[in-house]
Amino acid sequence: MTKTDTALFPSTDLETASARSTLTWTLEDWASITAAGDDTLIVRHQQDAWMLRWVIKALDGETYQVLKALGEHRSIGSRTGKAEPPGVLAGDRLSLEINRLLSGRLLRISVGGAGSAAQLVARPASRTARLALPLEPPRRPVRLSQYVTVRRVADAWEIGSPLHGFVLESRGSCLGSVLEQTAQRACAPADLIEDLTRNVGGEQAVNLLTVLAATGVLGEVDDEGLLAEEGDQLLIQRQPADVMFHHASRLGLHPGPTGATWRFAGSVPPTPALRASAFEAEKMVKLEREGPGGTADISFTEVVARRKSTRNHGAKPLTAWQLGEFLYRVARVDRVVPADESDPKSYECSVRPYPSGGGAYELELYLVIGRCTGVEKGLYRYRPLEHGLEPISASASQCSMLLEHARVVSGARESPQVLVIMGARFTRLSWKYENMAYATTLKDVGVLYESMYLTAAAMGLACCALGNSDSGLFAQATGLRVEEESSVGEFTLGSLPEAGNGAEGSGDANG
Ligand SMILES: Cc1cc2nc3c(=O)[nH]c(=O)nc-3n(C[C@H](O)[C@H](O)[C@H](O)COP(=O)(O)O)c2cc1C
Repeated sequence: MTKTDTALFPSTDLETASARSTLTWTLEDWASITAAGDDTLIVRHQQDAWMLRWVIKALDGETYQVLKALGEHRSIGSRTGKAEPPGVLAGDRLSLEINRLLSGRLLRISVGGAGSAAQLVARPASRTARLALPLEPPRRPVRLSQYVTVRRVADAWEIGSPLHGFVLESRGSCLGSVLEQTAQRACAPADLIEDLTRNVGGEQAVNLLTVLAATGVLGEVDDEGLLAEEGDQLLIQRQPADVMFHHASRLGLHPGPTGATWRFAGSVPPTPALRASAFEAEKMVKLEREGPGGTADISFTEVVARRKSTRNHGAKPLTAWQLGEFLYRVARVDRVVPADESDPKSYECSVRPYPSGGGAYELELYLVIGRCTGVEKGLYRYRPLEHGLEPISASASQCSMLLEHARVVSGARESPQVLVIMGARFTRLSWKYENMAYATTLKDVGVLYESMYLTAAAMGLACCALGNSDSGLFAQATGLRVEEESSVGEFTLGSLPEAGNGAEGSGDANG
């Protein structure tokens, strides 16, 4: 008889055990495990449109029995009161195979059945998800990880643990207290278990705490009261919001769909390719496509060699001709491509000089004019199809503040002659893309920065990208709702400074 047969799970009793126990390991609906010989199993699972399979060969008896039981019963549980899959006590091989199933997102752990005061389902979110097996309840005091997020999804709490690559679904009333207490201080496991046992049985309380710790929601603290994440030289340099954004926007690090899912196709109309004029369109300032005589074209190699950030501007301001040529070369719309009305996934696009994710061109250009011969001071929106500037009725002080902010951020001596602000119309991308729309916008900002840098270099203009600016001020100046369109990039533009007048040097306060 194998160890599994005797000590842990007589196979005839597996289902009963699963129903009785408070911790169960369940094969996800999209996965199956079938026997293909005495020591060989086949794992099959659905991924997107594909059915994938892998063969696990030369298994030891224990691992074979446990995984086969998982395939047959789909759900197996621990009768021991310890939070461990049956047989994981000893086997390195079983531990390895369980972790392979976890990293393939084929297995979930549940504590507490329906109707229990605390139900917890932990699912691997990332291909990097790993559990140290056997699962053991924490021994040292535990604290809540700073990387954990809690949000409502339908009628449950979703507790995200991106560092450990797990997402937990929590129902019932008693886990909130554990999160609250461990957010405030390191708590002894025994105290938390005691607290939990006011609502659930002792075995379940242990299992709840064990799963919270195993999935990184709670971490054991060291003698100084620090979590491992707080002493990790790499992690301390990464802010939780940045880590979460990265995990959420990349495939393989979170469970949700990522990419073009067109989840609003057919229900919400796509945002048009060009922004409707919300401003004083009749007062549009027409721009020229090229300055007098045109800019002598230089080789691409030369353009790339000349490109650099120049933060101070010349005494003689940029002209309306130059501004027109710059915008025409960088951001004009050559044509609008209508949507195919017969296809709900189709949306109106446009053709412009720079590339853009999904051809969405969600970035709008706003210009704060400080000094530009031929264009009055003020805030304008560039109309890329008409190639003109549409005035926006922002106050003079709002414009000055935007320019002054750019001066500070670039460390320049004076405020820029022209500040170009990129506003993103978020729904252009989020209508089509799931979980990666904002990441795409930031990539688009980078693309447009480089296009502007190269164009400025070719035209002999001074320019500098800015890493940040005041989106709140931009919202006030334009009256735009931040959720609809917000500033995501800024770029200063002006005439080159005269030689010896700040042509070189960075003074970069933020870049
Ligand atoms: C995304 C991005 C953000 C930047 N942010 C700033 C900034 O806030 N302030 C600044 O003075 N320069 C900024 N810069 C310019 C960089 O400092 C500059 O590109 C870098 O020092 C290299 O110098 P170079 O452009 O002259 O080759 C930024 C550049 C990029 C691409």
